[in-house]
Amino acid sequence: MTTENTELMSLVYTSTASAPFRSSALDHLLAQCRALNGAREVTGMLLYRGERFIQVLEGPADVVRRLARTIGGDPRHRDMRVLIEEPIDERRFEDWTMGYRTLQSEAADAPAGFRDSFADLEESDERSTTLRALAELTLWFRVRAEQAARV
Ligand SMILES: Cc1cc2nc3c(=O)[nH]c(=O)nc-3n(C[C@H](O)[C@H](O)[C@H](O)COP(=O)(O)O)c2cc1C
Repeated sequence: MTTENTELMSLVYTSTASAPFRSSALDHLLAQCRALNGAREVTGMLLYRGERFIQVLEGPADVVRRLARTIGGDPRHRDMRVLIEEPIDERRFEDWTMGYRTLQSEAADAPAGFRDSFADLEESDERSTTLRALAELTLWFRVRAEQAARV
C-alpha cells in the first residue's frame, strides 16, 4: 500500500442488517466492497452474525471518514454505531481489501465473548474494554484467515 505521508485511521462500527442477508447478497456486498476498497486503499474486515455487522475500515483518514458516511446511509443496514475512530501508525488488515467471516451461533472457535453477540464491544462505556475486545476479535480473525489460507 502506498500511503506514505498520508494520515492513516481506523474506524470500527456495528450495525444491524435491514433484512437478513442471504449469502448471495453478502457475496454481492463483499465483491462491491473489495473492488471499491482496493481502488481507494481501504483495508479492513467485516463480520456478520445474526443480522449484525461489525466492520473495521482502515486507510487514509479523509477516505475512511467519507466512506463511513456513505456506508452509514446505505439502506441495507441501520443503527450504525461508531465504536472507535483513531489514527493508526500501521494497518492491521494490510492483506485484506475486506476480509470477511460469518460467526455461526454454534461456532466453538468464536473468540470468548463473541459467541452470542457483539455485546462486549457495544455494551461497555469503557474505551479500554472496547479496545481489548476488539484486539481479541482482530487476533481471532487473523488466525482464522491464516488457517483458511493453509488448507
Ligand atoms: C455492512 C456494509 C458494509 C459496507 N462496506 C463497504 C466497504 O467496505 N467499502 C465500500 O466501498 N462500500 C461498502 N459498503 C457499500 C456502501 O454503502 C456503498 O454502497 C458503496 O460504497 C457505493 O457507494 P457509492 O454508490 O456512493 O459509490 C458497505 C455496505 C454495507 C451495508
